[in-house]
Amino acid sequence: MTVDTNSTPVILTGDRTTGPLHLGHYVGSLKTRVALQSTHRQFLLLADSQALTDNAHDPAKVQQNVLEVALDYLAVGIDPELTTICLQSHLPALAELTLLYMNFVTVSRLERNPTIKDEIQARGFGRDIPAGFLCYPVAQAADITAFKATVVPVGEDQAPLIEQTNEIVRRINRQVGRDVLMEAKALIPAIGRLPGVDGKSKMSKSQGNAIPLSASPSEISDAVRRMFTDPNHLRASDPGKVEGNVVFTYLDAFDEDRTAVEALKAHYRGGGLGDMAVKRRLDDILQTLVAPIRARRAILARDPGHILTMLRRGTQNARRVTQATLDEVRNALGLFQLNADPDAF
Ligand code: TRP
Repeated sequence: MTVDTNSTPVILTGDRTTGPLHLGHYVGSLKTRVALQSTHRQFLLLADSQALTDNAHDPAKVQQNVLEVALDYLAVGIDPELTTICLQSHLPALAELTLLYMNFVTVSRLERNPTIKDEIQARGFGRDIPAGFLCYPVAQAADITAFKATVVPVGEDQAPLIEQTNEIVRRINRQVGRDVLMEAKALIPAIGRLPGVDGKSKMSKSQGNAIPLSASPSEISDAVRRMFTDPNHLRASDPGKVEGNVVFTYLDAFDEDRTAVEALKAHYRGGGLGDMAVKRRLDDILQTLVAPIRARRAILARDPGHILTMLRRGTQNARRVTQATLDEVRNALGLFQLNADPDAF
């Protein structure tokens, strides 16, 4: 650790290990994590237990993507010397905190959580909701508070989960009569959620509308070619719509030359600018962004042993931190103490 671990603010965030990460993750949170790792104490959680809450029928997928997501982290520039990468299922204190927190949240509050409501609908659970799925916001509250994180970089769909975390924190603090837990703030990027290349919903591997961080040059070009634009912009000479036009949404997210993008938008709106020209610009930008990530990923993937060692070290480090919080919470809640030495029990 090169940072002062006592006074630097703590970041905790994570990803379900259900598939390799994509450009939506990049603008949504990875970029922020890379930027903040030198000024914060940062923990990244490979959320395999949470992934299981809606993938219990396919544990192989959850298992295989642990190293894929770890590779994505390192490929975008997460530095394991600055950021602790750890595996959720190997941090038993998180499960124990979840169990304690469950007493401070009602089933109806969980059912009202807007993220959970949307996800239940999208997965077609109806009334057959796995209890683990309904309760994953409680587990996520355990994730965040176990590390004493105050900053949580996430996409905007996660905001209700942070809100629910803070509710649990307040209830527990009220119960124990002091601030044993800390509230956290969601750090949501201004760009909002990145739509899929089809213009429908958010970018997601399961929707088949994602560009993975490891995409090949031709995969990127294919995705840009089939990207949704303005269906009424039939000829280059026609005036076109920029709102809801995915190519422009992506330029807003990835093109750093704001002046050029605004000029392109004006030209497109006025007529005389074809989709092909705008797509060519976006293709160039995405190729330039992804090429170094893909190259680093390929080199790192040749040595899975190295990734595993890094992950073991990070998980061990996270075990100490989360166990210490569990001890504090258990004591604060007034549970029986078998031994004054916290290492003994
Ligand atoms: N729910 C997050 C997602 O779907 C993953 C996650 C698990 C997480 N634990 C977390 C995010 C704690 C932020 C903080 O990607």
